[in-house]
Amino acid sequence: MIGLYPGTFDPVTYGHLDIIKRASALCEKLYVGVMDNTSKRRLFNTEERLVLMKKSVESLKNVEVILFNGLQVDCFNKLGATAIVRGLRSESDFNLEFIMTSGNRHMNKSAETIFLMTSPEYVYISSSLIKEIHAFGGCLDGMVPDFVIEALNKKSLEKED
Ligand code: COA
Repeated sequence: MIGLYPGTFDPVTYGHLDIIKRASALCEKLYVGVMDNTSKRRLFNTEERLVLMKKSVESLKNVEVILFNGLQVDCFNKLGATAIVRGLRSESDFNLEFIMTSGNRHMNKSAETIFLMTSPEYVYISSSLIKEIHAFGGCLDGMVPDFVIEALNKKSLEKED
């Protein structure tokens, strides 16, 4: 299986890394697609999100971090991937994933999506939650790698300037 795990990763969390590690064990090669032109309001720019993701997965030899624009199915086609990988945390994730999977298969019948259930210790984590906890000075230990906390600290200092 050649996997594509797409996301905004603003910033990457241990929840994402849980999915990446487990998916990499199932795949010959796993591409992590960092979305460039997301409509979401972002804290980290594309380059920063890419650097943080590359650092997070550097020990996983069959994982390659790439940037993508536009539709995930176009990226999937271009890479010659055989499965899109997504994590599921709750019922609300399912509804969105159902729509996205169906949309992808409408455009490419063979664009199958493989879902991994997020490990229980990470089900409540989202990138927005991380940013909110950080903004109010809360502890992020065990939720994101230390270098992500450092990057968040740096962003706060930049904002103060
Ligand atoms: N553990 C922890 N957090 C997780 C998680 C997990 N396993 N899985 C998802 N999350 C978090 C994300 O950090 C994100 O948090 P946020 O909303 O606070 O930023 C949230 O859950 C939603 O994640 P996700 O659904 O993966 O959204 P995303 O913004 O990271 O990525 C894209 C969405 C980029 C994959 C999707 O919009 C895309 O591919 N767009 C391109 C256009 C396209 O092809 N659309 C589909 C048409 S059919």
